[in-house]
Amino acid sequence: MLIHLLLLPLLASTWAKPTSYAIWSADSAISRGQGNGLGSNGAPLVSYEHGEFWWALRLLYEKTGNKIYFDYIRQGVDRVVAANGTIGGGYGFTTDYQLDPIRTGPTFLYLYDVTGQQKYKIAADKYRQQLETHPRTAQGQFWHKLRYPNQGWLDGIYMGDVFYAQYTHDFQYSNKSAWDDVQAQFTLMFENTLQNATSPPHLLYHGYDYSHAAPWASPDRGHSPESWDRALGWYMMALVDTLDIFPPAHPGHAALLSFFRTLAPRVKAAADAQTGVWWLVLSQPGRAGNYFESSGSAMFVYALLKGVRRGHIEDDGIVKAMRKAYGYMVENWAIPNANGTIDWQNTVQVGSLDGNGTFEYYTSVPTDVNDLKGLAAFTLASIEYENL
Ligand SMILES: *[C@@H]1O[C@H](CO)[C@@H](O)[C@H](O)[C@H]1NC(C)=O
Ligand SMILES: *[C@@H]1O[C@H](CO)[C@@H](O)[C@H](O)[C@H]1NC(C)=O
Ligand SMILES: *[C@@H]1O[C@H](CO)[C@@H](O)[C@H](O)[C@H]1NC(C)=O
Ligand SMILES: *[C@@H]1O[C@H](CO)[C@@H](O)[C@H](O)[C@H]1NC(C)=O
Ligand SMILES: *[C@@H]1O[C@H](CO)[C@@H](O)[C@H](O)[C@H]1NC(C)=O
Repeated sequence: MLIHLLLLPLLASTWAKPTSYAIWSADSAISRGQGNGLGSNGAPLVSYEHGEFWWALRLLYEKTGNKIYFDYIRQGVDRVVAANGTIGGGYGFTTDYQLDPIRTGPTFLYLYDVTGQQKYKIAADKYRQQLETHPRTAQGQFWHKLRYPNQGWLDGIYMGDVFYAQYTHDFQYSNKSAWDDVQAQFTLMFENTLQNATSPPHLLYHGYDYSHAAPWASPDRGHSPESWDRALGWYMMALVDTLDIFPPAHPGHAALLSFFRTLAPRVKAAADAQTGVWWLVLSQPGRAGNYFESSGSAMFVYALLKGVRRGHIEDDGIVKAMRKAYGYMVENWAIPNANGTIDWQNTVQVGSLDGNGTFEYYTSVPTDVNDLKGLAAFTLASIEYENL
């Protein structure tokens, strides 16, 4: 009875439908143990999905002051960063040369900043060291992974280059060649994947192969055939987050801003007129088999709302459009459970340029419930929405 009385208010405060979907989605993921630095087998895992979620939890901590979020981040990171700063959790460094794990790096830098603990700096140094020798195309773009030679994927910008910028900001602010290099990563990706004037919706293809060796590489520029919503979502989030970090006086700041200003209205225009959200394959709206996908949609809402809030773009109907998209997301994809948690629907599991990169490929990949890539993006979108 006593336990019952004590638990009731606790449960009520934890699980009553809160006024904040940011809190509700984050608390639900935490109750399921998602993004805790462990893989499904219980072993430590360096995961970009966890990195994305930690980023959202950090913003939520800063907004609410609720230390639960901070403690969850730290506990998760401490599972993959040993007391001596060694990164465990399957991190491959030079054997793999992948950009994906580096997405956890901004959180290492954050923890170093607020705790001063050296192990987080040692771990961040390791990622920075990887970038120093990471293989590149002849133009200088980091390969997405060692096993994808000469390939730049939009995803990699969010995974590797937000960290690169933050590290440079924190420890090498006057290192011009590092800032030049961060600028080059965004620029090469933009130029090599931009859809030309005869290819609507004039967004970005998923990636390109500078050597044109991949089966999907176009004869003209080596780009992949379709524009995939989540890839562009990663790129848009990377732009808007890196603009916070980039020195305003360096020309890279204006370059990133121009990419964002070019893409934002086109992203808005590419939304489905009726629902306000976005197709999985942006380049083939309405085609049979295509569908409204939740992770890319949430990323666009986060990036565009933040872009307006930070003054990077004029509103110009963007807030209204994002409100409409957000309304659809909440109504259709954020589904309450009887126990007070929320389920996040309709996030596509993967979209890789490992295969043939066709419409048939993207639409053949199943969707998941509570996929952290989409759920964390919904938390981010909700934080921005609730800032309005
Ligand atoms: C750091 O700690 C890890 C885990 O405890 C251990 O495996 C590794 O050997 C240590 N590395 C060094 C350089 O001491
Ligand atoms: C500056 O950045 C470049 C490019 O990333 C790097 O090679 C160099 O070591 C950095 N210099 C310093 C002094 O950290
Ligand atoms: C535009 O891009 C499409 C698709 O890659 C290509 O087939 C076409 O030749 C390009 N047109 C021009 C003018 O470059
Ligand atoms: C709440 O309910 C959902 C759906 O039945 C379930 O997947 C989840 O594990 C439950 N969470 C808790 C904390 O019991
Ligand atoms: C591309 O791969 C998908 C499966 O991932 C398959 O269904 C489709 O037939 C393939 N298309 C071509 C042109 O090979």
